[in-house]
Amino acid sequence: MIREIVQVGDPVLRKKCAPVERFDGALGALLDDMKDTLLDAEGAGLAAPQIGVPLRVVAVNVEEGYFEFVNPAFVWQKGEQVGAEGCLSVRGKAGTVRRPEKVKIVFRDRKGDRYSLVARGFFARAVCHELDHLDGVLYTDKAENIRDAED
Ligand code: CO
Repeated sequence: MIREIVQVGDPVLRKKCAPVERFDGALGALLDDMKDTLLDAEGAGLAAPQIGVPLRVVAVNVEEGYFEFVNPAFVWQKGEQVGAEGCLSVRGKAGTVRRPEKVKIVFRDRKGDRYSLVARGFFARAVCHELDHLDGVLYTDKAENIRDAED
């Protein structure tokens, strides 16, 4: 089900999200809704608080594939990249953000199984942006400039 995407100013976007403790049908339904919502919005990523759910769950949709990360955490971050970023919760804006070039994360899938993953380039940028959402951080907090988006 496509859910409404919360916009900046809603306090849920500023919460420190709680870890998922139950890998049950409710989590599966949340992830299914996040997928429907993210694909409909044609975004690169979506965090659960963006549909009003303050849990540590994100989805990333990039060239490398579609990924679901439950309780993700950084293992390391390396290098640096500077590039443009936007956010489905900050409509019509873009900004330049400095991010690591390469990151390693650990996470669980919807069944609770543990994995790790290395992302680089734009994939790493999307992972960093989405993990920030879980701590109530928006890219606009880090951007060097915020401007009206071109499209
Ligand atoms: Co965002």
